[in-house]
Amino acid sequence: MIYSRISGTGSYLPERVVTNADLEKVVDTTDEWIRTRTGIERRHLAREGETTLDLAEKAARRALEAANVAPGDIDFIAFGTTTPDLIFPNCGVMLQERLGCLGSPAFSVETACASFMYALSIADKYVRCGESKRALVIGAETLSRITDWSDRTTAVLFADGAGAVVLEASDAPGILSTHLHADGRYQEMLYCKGGVSRGLAEKPAIVMAGKEVFKIAVTKLGAVVDETLAANGLERSAIDWLVPHQANIRIIQATAAKLDMPLEKVIVTVQDHGNTSAASVPLALDAGVRDGRIKRGELLLLEAFGGGFTWGSALVRF
Ligand code: COA
Repeated sequence: MIYSRISGTGSYLPERVVTNADLEKVVDTTDEWIRTRTGIERRHLAREGETTLDLAEKAARRALEAANVAPGDIDFIAFGTTTPDLIFPNCGVMLQERLGCLGSPAFSVETACASFMYALSIADKYVRCGESKRALVIGAETLSRITDWSDRTTAVLFADGAGAVVLEASDAPGILSTHLHADGRYQEMLYCKGGVSRGLAEKPAIVMAGKEVFKIAVTKLGAVVDETLAANGLERSAIDWLVPHQANIRIIQATAAKLDMPLEKVIVTVQDHGNTSAASVPLALDAGVRDGRIKRGELLLLEAFGGGFTWGSALVRF
């Protein structure tokens, strides 16, 4: 039996830091409102000319180094992003060229904040069926490019960053199961206006019905957590670490409560980088691994929820 195992993690945040106090000068908001409603304290924004691909390459190289895998040995790239450099070619192909691992499959997955979970699930299946030995899974975004900086309801939430994992074929279990979902009835609640086929006349900008998104996110994430445990015949107490989508501390707290987990067993990084969409789960995972909290052999539950709605989870023996 072949399994896929996470052999290395990496992440990258742009150098430019924008605090809540900085945002007070841009929109009608306060540090206190942002902290109490979202848990966010600061975020990182890409400088002019710095792209999703640039951030992804840095995260990817760090993950490859951690896994001790040469860039040229990667044979599969699944790249989650909603803010690609170009309409085409996809960011996976562009990253392949930068890393010099030409010829094997490379593509992007565009399921908003759940893009990394979808990309991870697809890559896991390719490794398990023997078609890939070493896959690179990316979540990277420059959401600052599709943020309406005059809209205080979204400008305080979204930001830029990248995370990556290397998946390798292994005899021992690594990724135990993945669970993906989508429900297109909710597309009006969270979307980016402006598009290709509908016309590019409008400047792309995130539109969100925050309160409604919040309620459904909590419900769907709670359900997918239950589904993941049931599929593996596990009790809630079996999970060592929850590595959640970093959108809002209150959504994270609700999911942790569902798992009966104290916040000390949850990797929380939302205060440092806001909602980086596809990048948020691998950013949190890498933070937990690098600061020594997450150890080899521990059981992790990864989950994310985003526009569409799309959502998903993965149970991982690290
Ligand atoms: N600063 C100050 N006040 C703000 C504000 C801001 N940045 N944004 C909104 N407000 C105001 C609203 O105008 C409203 O004022 P009113 O009562 O006078 O009408 C008040 O704050 C409450 O707004 P509301 O939208 O009800 O707040 P909330 O408690 O629902 O929090 C979110 C708003 C966006 C933080 C919250 O709904 C949320 O996190 N939703 C999920 C978003 C998310 O995670 N999306 C991505 C999923 S991947």
